[in-house]
Amino acid sequence: MIELKSEVEIGKMRAAGAVVAEILRELAAMVEPGVTTAELDSKAERMISLAGCRSAFKNYQVGDAVYPAVLCASVNDEVVHGIPSDRPIEEGDLVSLDFGVEKEGYYGDSAVTVVAGDTDEQSRRLVEVTRRSMEAGIEQMRPGQRLGDVGAAVQEVAEGGGFSVVRSFVGHGIGRALHEDPQLPNFGKRGRGQALRAGMVLAIEPMINAGGYGVRVKEDGWTAVTMDGSRSAHFEHTVAITDEGPQVLTAVAEEASL
Ligand code: MF3
Ligand code: CO
Repeated sequence: MIELKSEVEIGKMRAAGAVVAEILRELAAMVEPGVTTAELDSKAERMISLAGCRSAFKNYQVGDAVYPAVLCASVNDEVVHGIPSDRPIEEGDLVSLDFGVEKEGYYGDSAVTVVAGDTDEQSRRLVEVTRRSMEAGIEQMRPGQRLGDVGAAVQEVAEGGGFSVVRSFVGHGIGRALHEDPQLPNFGKRGRGQALRAGMVLAIEPMINAGGYGVRVKEDGWTAVTMDGSRSAHFEHTVAITDEGPQVLTAVAEEASL
């Protein structure tokens, strides 16, 4: 069942989203060769408690697996759910940072991919195309459009750029839980799927691979990597569907709506 949020609830989610945006911006600015993703995680943990929030990810359970950090940091061929580690980031690495908090009962969830130092042309393009695919999806998040319109828009940009869309991880409803109905695939057919309504709040999160779309989860139970070793990028925003159009709840203050 898809829970519709009132304007008051969307306001609370915007407050949670603002905390996510601010912390994620600081973490992204820290990414450079020599820094470890464990250092980014500690920084994030300190900022969460300063903001008086709770981590949305730490101790999150899927089956027997318990997520051990407040941040997901996925490097190069890691697609999503990378566990922060003591391995230093290297020049040219693609670092995807995925971060969420709960503030006063409501969740925000967002991700960005940043380049450490300088990188190759294909990696730069992968990051740009992935960001644009998310923006194309957000543009479809209006009453009357369907979930398939969102997925198709993401897929067209990603595949049009020569890349592929991960199938086994998808976006999701979000609100009083990190993951609510419905699932939001980053692929699909226009005109198909659930109709979107004002009051739905969805986390859209394309994961786009430079090579094939296949992924597998490593022995740690979390880290998803590309099957073919190619690089991957990930962007995510929490977006409210309103009669005025899509409202990005996890944007930094001055660009709070599209
Ligand atoms: N944005 C990711 C997702 O929605 C983050 C989840 S990390 C987890 O799946 F630890 F909470 F699983
Ligand atoms: Co998410």
